[in-house]
Amino acid sequence: MSALIDIAPGDFRCVADIMPVMDAAFDPAFGEAWNSGQCLGMLSITGSELLVARRNGTIVGFALYRTVFEESELLLIATHPDVQRLGVGSSLAKAVINQASNRGVKMVFLEVRQGNPALALYLRVGFLQVGQRENYYRGKSGDYFNALTLRYEITS
Ligand SMILES: CC(C)(COP(=O)(O)OP(=O)(O)OC[C@H]1O[C@@H](n2cnc3c(N)ncnc32)[C@H](O)[C@@H]1OP(=O)(O)O)[C@@H](O)C(=O)NCCC(=O)NCCS
Repeated sequence: MSALIDIAPGDFRCVADIMPVMDAAFDPAFGEAWNSGQCLGMLSITGSELLVARRNGTIVGFALYRTVFEESELLLIATHPDVQRLGVGSSLAKAVINQASNRGVKMVFLEVRQGNPALALYLRVGFLQVGQRENYYRGKSGDYFNALTLRYEITS
């Protein structure tokens, strides 16, 4: 599968094409998906970068992150349900780390809702949990969820 997936830098022109992935990937119960205005706004901020995964020319995944000096924050990562559990999400996360490393970044941080299956992906790629924020997220039902803070240390 990975040979059929191409990961490349994207920009604001890709936002319309990442929205179908956003809408299909995120469970609306948690209200974690961003709208196109939020994506465009983030991409207009210095240090924000987008990576897109394409299959046969169609965007099937993306990762959005932002770098300030020697630290990056992985803000969003998603893959279309049609390609999930095939390694695309892991490839995107590794591509973020590689690109950040090329920018001189030393640490990549992220926050993930406790219980999100993405946690297993992050741990497998090499992130370590370094913190927890109690009741940080509020789902659509009004329930609160802890946020876990993860860090990837770039050593090379
Ligand atoms: C999280 C997400 C990006 C993973 O993408 P993916 O392409 O399926 O990732 P991978 O195939 O590389 O999965 C790597 C590992 O993560 C874990 N994993 C991923 N999705 C999982 C799921 N639904 N349930 C359990 N484990 C899961 C597994 O350990 C998996 O390895 P395995 O398939 O060999 O068991 C995708 O499920 C998604 O878009 N989720 C909705 C958006 C989201 O919550 N993003 C994270 C917060 S921004």
